[in-house]
Amino acid sequence: MNILIFGATSGIGRAIAHRYAKAGNQVAITGRRQELLDEIQAENPSKIFPIKHNIRETGLIPDIIQQVHKTFGNIDLIIVNSGIGKYNLELDWHICESVIKTNILGVTRAMTESYNYFRKQKKGHLVNVSSVASLMGNGANPSYNASKAFQANFIEGLWIKSKKSKKTNIAVTDIRPGFVDTKLAQGQTFWMADVDTAAKQIVQAIRKKKKVAYITKRWCLVAWLLKRMPAFLLKKM
Ligand SMILES: NC(=O)c1ccc[n+]([C@@H]2O[C@H](COP(=O)([O-])OP(=O)(O)OC[C@H]3O[C@@H](n4cnc5c(N)ncnc54)[C@H](OP(=O)(O)O)[C@@H]3O)[C@@H](O)[C@H]2O)c1
Repeated sequence: MNILIFGATSGIGRAIAHRYAKAGNQVAITGRRQELLDEIQAENPSKIFPIKHNIRETGLIPDIIQQVHKTFGNIDLIIVNSGIGKYNLELDWHICESVIKTNILGVTRAMTESYNYFRKQKKGHLVNVSSVASLMGNGANPSYNASKAFQANFIEGLWIKSKKSKKTNIAVTDIRPGFVDTKLAQGQTFWMADVDTAAKQIVQAIRKKKKVAYITKRWCLVAWLLKRMPAFLLKKM
């Protein structure tokens, strides 16, 4: 398979890229940190194609997709994984703005251009990494959860679109991790998954072309509870 992963210099994205490359796939990866892109490419030079890119530079996203298309001949799978999240107890606007620029503007452009690329190609698989956080508000980090709710809703729209089209064969998957042991998780401990376990389950869910996958699987229980959570319990969280 030919794969493009937006945001694969560390954490979940890096582990997925490693897994796919090891299995013989060609994997283009993006991120801002050149030294990490170089390091990942050095691990598997014939399979990894690094592209330095800040997803906030939304105007460059169509060029990146075209560049990967030209390098590989086509793209089968695009995973949009780039994301940031920071505690914002003081409700600082600059943190909200930063999260919106990356997690909403950047990620939405990446999903849109990827879907349109697959539409032209008449086939492909689009995956976004949202979060269990998409299911509820969060007093400590409101913009992060809201950005993930936006992503989950947006990609569900693309899933509906894909199912309505008789001319194309596009799969759409929303990956919703719980806590995974990366810098972004900021020291959480509850049901924390290691990155390799998370990557393994994500790759499995993508292979099965799931509509929504909770990572690790037991987080679907939390999701079930969150969807039914009364307000008096929500405010205690
Ligand atoms: N860890 C968790 O518990 C957890 C739970 C639910 C969902 N998630 C989601 O999983 C995804 C991956 O997060 P992670 O936990 O693996 O954290 P991470 O290690 O911090 O990885 C984040 C990735 O996103 C990239 N990224 C961030 N800002 C970017 C930008 N402006 N332009 C391009 N790339 C950017 C980073 O690359 P550069 O810094 O090199 O640009 C990095 O490769 C995120 O979308 C996150 O919201 C994580």
